[in-house]
Amino acid sequence: MPRTCIHPSLLSADFANLEAELRRIGTADAVHVDVMDNHFVPNLTLGLPVVERIQAVSAVPLDIHLMIEDADRWAPAYAELGCESVTFHAEAARAPLKLARDLRAHGARAGMALRPATPVEPYLDLLPELDMLLVMTVEPGFGGQAFLEVTLPKIRRAAEAIRAGGGQVALQVDGGITEETIVRAAEAGADTFVAGSAVYGTGDPEAAIAALRGAARS
Ligand code: DX5
Ligand code: ZN
Repeated sequence: MPRTCIHPSLLSADFANLEAELRRIGTADAVHVDVMDNHFVPNLTLGLPVVERIQAVSAVPLDIHLMIEDADRWAPAYAELGCESVTFHAEAARAPLKLARDLRAHGARAGMALRPATPVEPYLDLLPELDMLLVMTVEPGFGGQAFLEVTLPKIRRAAEAIRAGGGQVALQVDGGITEETIVRAAEAGADTFVAGSAVYGTGDPEAAIAALRGAARS
Protein backbone atom coordinates (compact mmCIF):
# COMPACT_ATOMS: atom_id res chain seq x y z
CA MET A 1 0.00 0.00 0.00
CA PRO A 2 1.49 3.40 -0.93
CA ARG A 3 2.29 5.85 1.83
CA THR A 4 -0.39 8.45 2.67
CA CYS A 5 1.05 11.96 2.46
CA ILE A 6 -0.66 15.10 3.72
CA HIS A 7 0.51 18.43 2.26
CA PRO A 8 -1.12 21.48 3.88
CA SER A 9 -1.46 24.39 1.47
CA LEU A 10 0.07 27.64 2.62
CA LEU A 11 -2.54 29.49 0.56
CA SER A 12 -4.92 29.27 3.54
CA ALA A 13 -2.28 30.38 6.05
CA ASP A 14 -1.66 33.91 7.36
CA PHE A 15 0.66 35.47 4.78
CA ALA A 16 1.83 38.03 7.35
CA ASN A 17 3.20 35.26 9.60
CA LEU A 18 4.50 32.55 7.30
CA GLU A 19 7.34 31.37 9.54
CA ALA A 20 4.95 30.87 12.48
CA GLU A 21 2.40 29.21 10.20
CA LEU A 22 5.05 26.72 9.02
CA ARG A 23 5.75 25.73 12.63
CA ARG A 24 2.06 24.82 13.07
CA ILE A 25 2.33 21.94 10.56
CA GLY A 26 5.40 20.10 11.80
CA THR A 27 3.69 16.71 11.31
CA ALA A 28 2.97 17.32 7.61
CA ASP A 29 4.87 15.35 4.97
CA ALA A 30 5.50 18.55 3.01
CA VAL A 31 4.11 22.06 2.71
CA HIS A 32 2.30 22.86 -0.53
CA VAL A 33 3.16 26.29 -1.93
CA ASP A 34 0.85 27.72 -4.61
CA VAL A 35 2.62 30.05 -7.03
CA MET A 36 0.13 32.00 -9.20
CA ASP A 37 0.88 34.64 -11.84
CA ASN A 38 -2.55 36.14 -12.57
CA HIS A 39 -2.26 34.83 -16.16
CA PHE A 40 -2.51 31.04 -15.98
CA VAL A 41 -5.06 31.54 -13.19
CA PRO A 42 -6.98 34.69 -12.20
CA ASN A 43 -5.11 35.15 -8.93
CA LEU A 44 -1.68 36.30 -7.78
CA THR A 45 0.26 34.91 -4.83
CA LEU A 46 4.03 34.78 -4.44
CA GLY A 47 7.16 33.98 -6.40
CA LEU A 48 10.82 33.04 -6.20
CA PRO A 49 12.08 35.52 -3.55
CA VAL A 50 9.38 34.53 -1.07
CA VAL A 51 9.77 30.81 -1.80
CA GLU A 52 13.52 31.17 -1.25
CA ARG A 53 12.87 32.46 2.29
CA ILE A 54 10.22 29.82 3.00
CA GLN A 55 12.68 27.15 1.86
CA ALA A 56 15.32 28.60 4.20
CA VAL A 57 13.14 28.56 7.33
CA SER A 58 10.85 25.56 6.79
CA ALA A 59 11.46 22.33 8.72
CA VAL A 60 9.18 20.43 6.33
CA PRO A 61 10.05 19.96 2.64
CA LEU A 62 8.48 22.24 0.02
CA ASP A 63 6.02 20.99 -2.59
CA ILE A 64 5.78 23.77 -5.18
CA HIS A 65 2.64 24.01 -7.35
CA LEU A 66 3.29 26.37 -10.25
CA MET A 67 0.10 27.89 -11.69
CA ILE A 68 2.02 30.07 -14.10
CA GLU A 69 2.48 30.53 -17.80
CA ASP A 70 5.93 29.90 -19.24
CA ALA A 71 6.63 27.09 -16.79
CA ASP A 72 9.58 25.97 -18.96
CA ARG A 73 11.38 29.19 -18.09
CA TRP A 74 10.62 29.47 -14.37
CA ALA A 75 10.24 25.98 -12.90
CA PRO A 76 13.95 24.98 -12.82
CA ALA A 77 14.75 27.98 -10.61
CA TYR A 78 12.47 26.55 -7.90
CA ALA A 79 14.30 23.24 -8.13
CA GLU A 80 17.61 25.09 -7.76
CA LEU A 81 16.40 26.54 -4.45
CA GLY A 82 16.30 22.98 -3.09
CA CYS A 83 12.53 22.53 -3.08
CA GLU A 84 11.69 18.84 -2.73
CA SER A 85 9.18 18.75 -5.59
CA VAL A 86 8.23 21.17 -8.35
CA THR A 87 4.97 20.69 -10.21
CA PHE A 88 4.17 22.48 -13.47
CA HIS A 89 0.88 22.41 -15.35
CA ALA A 90 0.75 20.29 -18.51
CA GLU A 91 -1.34 23.07 -20.10
CA ALA A 92 1.42 25.63 -19.44
CA ALA A 93 4.52 23.72 -20.53
CA ARG A 94 5.74 23.82 -24.12
CA ALA A 95 8.15 20.92 -23.61
CA PRO A 96 6.97 18.88 -20.60
CA LEU A 97 9.39 16.01 -21.18
CA LYS A 98 12.42 18.31 -21.27
CA LEU A 99 11.10 20.26 -18.30
CA ALA A 100 10.59 17.13 -16.18
CA ARG A 101 14.16 16.07 -16.98
CA ASP A 102 15.46 19.55 -16.12
CA LEU A 103 13.74 19.44 -12.74
CA ARG A 104 15.23 16.06 -11.92
CA ALA A 105 18.65 17.22 -13.10
CA HIS A 106 18.37 20.06 -10.57
CA GLY A 107 17.67 17.55 -7.81
CA ALA A 108 13.90 18.02 -7.44
CA ARG A 109 11.10 15.54 -7.81
CA ALA A 110 9.30 16.37 -11.06
CA GLY A 111 5.53 16.86 -10.89
CA MET A 112 2.98 17.54 -13.60
CA ALA A 113 -0.53 18.86 -12.95
CA LEU A 114 -3.74 18.53 -14.92
CA ARG A 115 -6.70 20.94 -14.70
CA PRO A 116 -10.04 19.22 -14.05
CA ALA A 117 -10.98 19.15 -17.76
CA THR A 118 -7.57 18.03 -19.05
CA PRO A 119 -7.54 14.30 -19.88
CA VAL A 120 -4.72 12.14 -18.53
CA GLU A 121 -4.48 9.81 -21.55
CA PRO A 122 -2.28 12.05 -23.78
CA TYR A 123 0.28 12.19 -20.97
CA LEU A 124 0.52 8.53 -19.94
CA ASP A 125 3.77 7.98 -21.85
CA LEU A 126 5.35 10.72 -19.71
CA LEU A 127 4.77 8.90 -16.42
CA PRO A 128 8.26 7.31 -16.25
CA GLU A 129 9.70 10.83 -16.45
CA LEU A 130 7.62 12.04 -13.48
CA ASP A 131 7.79 11.57 -9.73
CA MET A 132 4.32 12.97 -9.13
CA LEU A 133 1.10 13.47 -11.10
CA LEU A 134 -1.32 16.07 -9.72
CA VAL A 135 -4.97 15.72 -10.65
CA MET A 136 -6.65 19.03 -9.78
CA THR A 137 -9.97 18.43 -8.03
CA VAL A 138 -11.05 22.09 -8.34
CA GLU A 139 -10.34 24.71 -11.00
CA PRO A 140 -6.95 26.08 -9.93
CA GLY A 141 -6.78 29.60 -8.56
CA PHE A 142 -8.47 29.74 -5.18
CA GLY A 143 -8.72 27.87 -1.91
CA GLY A 144 -11.99 26.91 -0.28
CA GLN A 145 -13.78 25.54 -3.37
CA ALA A 146 -15.89 22.37 -3.45
CA PHE A 147 -14.32 19.08 -4.56
CA LEU A 148 -15.28 18.18 -8.16
CA GLU A 149 -16.62 14.62 -8.06
CA VAL A 150 -16.32 14.50 -11.86
CA THR A 151 -12.54 14.10 -11.45
CA LEU A 152 -12.82 10.72 -9.67
CA PRO A 153 -12.79 8.56 -12.84
CA LYS A 154 -9.62 10.35 -14.00
CA ILE A 155 -7.96 9.69 -10.62
CA ARG A 156 -8.89 6.02 -11.03
CA ARG A 157 -7.45 5.82 -14.56
CA ALA A 158 -4.27 7.61 -13.51
CA ALA A 159 -3.84 5.26 -10.53
CA GLU A 160 -4.26 2.22 -12.77
CA ALA A 161 -1.65 3.50 -15.22
CA ILE A 162 0.76 4.26 -12.37
CA ARG A 163 0.28 0.76 -10.92
CA ALA A 164 0.79 -0.79 -14.36
CA GLY A 165 4.07 1.11 -14.66
CA GLY A 166 5.39 -0.18 -11.34
CA GLY A 167 3.87 2.34 -8.92
CA GLN A 168 6.80 4.75 -8.73
CA VAL A 169 4.75 7.93 -9.28
CA ALA A 170 2.92 9.69 -6.44
CA LEU A 171 -0.70 10.58 -7.28
CA GLN A 172 -1.62 13.91 -5.75
CA VAL A 173 -5.04 15.57 -5.51
CA ASP A 174 -5.55 19.25 -4.75
CA GLY A 175 -8.72 21.20 -4.06
CA GLY A 176 -11.71 20.69 -1.80
CA ILE A 177 -10.04 17.94 0.23
CA THR A 178 -11.87 17.40 3.53
CA GLU A 179 -12.28 14.46 5.92
CA GLU A 180 -15.18 13.37 3.67
CA THR A 181 -13.79 13.88 0.16
CA ILE A 182 -10.37 12.44 1.05
CA VAL A 183 -12.01 9.06 1.56
CA ARG A 184 -13.28 8.99 -2.04
CA ALA A 185 -10.05 10.36 -3.49
CA ALA A 186 -8.04 7.71 -1.60
CA GLU A 187 -10.44 4.98 -2.68
CA ALA A 188 -9.92 6.11 -6.29
CA GLY A 189 -6.16 5.69 -5.85
CA ALA A 190 -4.71 9.04 -4.75
CA ASP A 191 -1.95 8.85 -2.12
CA THR A 192 -0.86 12.47 -1.67
CA PHE A 193 -3.41 15.01 -0.47
CA VAL A 194 -3.22 18.80 -0.50
CA ALA A 195 -5.49 20.53 1.98
CA GLY A 196 -5.65 24.27 2.60
CA SER A 197 -8.81 25.30 4.39
CA ALA A 198 -9.23 21.85 5.98
CA VAL A 199 -5.90 22.36 7.79
CA TYR A 200 -5.30 26.08 8.27
CA GLY A 201 -9.00 26.89 8.51
CA THR A 202 -9.18 24.95 11.78
CA GLY A 203 -7.90 25.96 15.21
CA ASP A 204 -5.52 22.99 15.39
CA PRO A 205 -3.69 22.28 12.11
CA GLU A 206 -1.82 19.21 13.42
CA ALA A 207 -5.04 17.63 14.68
CA ALA A 208 -6.54 18.30 11.23
CA ILE A 209 -3.55 16.63 9.56
CA ALA A 210 -3.99 13.56 11.80
CA ALA A 211 -7.72 13.42 11.07
CA LEU A 212 -7.13 13.63 7.30
CA ARG A 213 -4.47 10.93 7.51
CA GLY A 214 -6.81 8.67 9.44
CA ALA A 215 -9.71 9.25 7.04
CA ALA A 216 -7.54 8.52 3.99
CA ARG A 217 -6.51 5.18 5.47
CA SER A 218 -10.03 4.19 6.59
C1 DX5 B 1 -5.97 26.05 -5.63
C2 DX5 B 1 -4.68 25.58 -5.01
C3 DX5 B 1 -4.86 24.72 -3.83
C4 DX5 B 1 -5.62 25.36 -2.68
C5 DX5 B 1 -6.44 24.27 -2.06
O1 DX5 B 1 -5.75 26.44 -6.91
O2 DX5 B 1 -3.92 24.85 -5.95
O3 DX5 B 1 -3.62 24.20 -3.37
O4 DX5 B 1 -4.80 25.94 -1.70
O5 DX5 B 1 -7.26 24.83 -1.10
P1 DX5 B 1 -8.46 24.02 -0.43
O6 DX5 B 1 -7.85 22.81 0.22
O7 DX5 B 1 -9.02 25.00 0.54
O8 DX5 B 1 -9.41 23.64 -1.53
ZN1 ZN C 1 -2.16 23.83 -5.18
